[in-house]
Amino acid sequence: MAKKIAIAIHKGGVGKTTSAKNIAAALAGAGKRTLLIDLDEQANATKGLGVDPDALSATLNDLFTDPTIEPSMAVVTTLVDGLHLIAGHPNLSKTETGMAFQRSDPTAPDPIVALKTLLEALEDHYDFIILDTPPSLGFMTINALAAADELVIPAAASAYTQDGLARTIEAYERAVKTYNPGLRLRGILITRVKRTNASSAVLDGIGEAYSDRVIPQLIVESTAVDEAEQLNQPVVLYDPESAAAQGYKRVAEILINE
Ligand SMILES: Nc1ncnc2c1ncn2[C@@H]1O[C@H](COP(=O)(O)OP(=O)(O)O)[C@@H](O)[C@H]1O
Ligand SMILES: [Mg+2]
Repeated sequence: MAKKIAIAIHKGGVGKTTSAKNIAAALAGAGKRTLLIDLDEQANATKGLGVDPDALSATLNDLFTDPTIEPSMAVVTTLVDGLHLIAGHPNLSKTETGMAFQRSDPTAPDPIVALKTLLEALEDHYDFIILDTPPSLGFMTINALAAADELVIPAAASAYTQDGLARTIEAYERAVKTYNPGLRLRGILITRVKRTNASSAVLDGIGEAYSDRVIPQLIVESTAVDEAEQLNQPVVLYDPESAAAQGYKRVAEILINE
């Protein structure tokens, strides 16, 4: 059965999607059967793996809103060998309302566990399922926290990160108390580390507040990440020797072995 890992924090631009697609690609590169689920309507992880969100026969929104569609119908291959994807799409913005309409049906499942229920049909086929989430703590992120075994919180070494981190840890604690008692905080992944005093100050702050929860591998800010993104590729494929790619491969090893 797959290990399901949610990548989430209540903040945008911190490396959630970069982390999700590169960790997933590195896991696939290590021979693990991996599925990435892009729960963000911006569909950046989808595009970043070379998949066009408008060229799908079934979307994630279809799976959420039409229980007669088999989850496997929405699974596609990516440019990374061994990495499968359920794509994100702008129509995910309509999913929550679409499901609210169904709720006149008393047999419809609780919307919080919709993703968890979908994954039951898929997880035997994978070693890892990685969930990329939007920058809010709304419907899709709550579904990810309800479905996951583990949570990785990517925290960029930049201003206001600690606020997002604190709100996300609160959401994690609420998830454990109310709807997913087995959810484990796998760790805080520090990303976008620069050689500046401001970046070091944020790092020190996170270290002081959460030292025992920080994953022992930083991800540095690297131009290779931006170049890879321009080409719709994960950096672990585009420039495997770059410091950011090496960092993500080490994180994948930690997730596999520890
Ligand atoms: N390690 C890094 N080095 C350089 N740029 C990065 C790095 N991580 C993320 N970025 C860039 O920062 C932007 C936001 O990252 P992204 O992963 O999309 O964040 P989020 O999903 O949290 O909104 C993207 O343009 C991405 O290329
Ligand atoms: Mg993102």
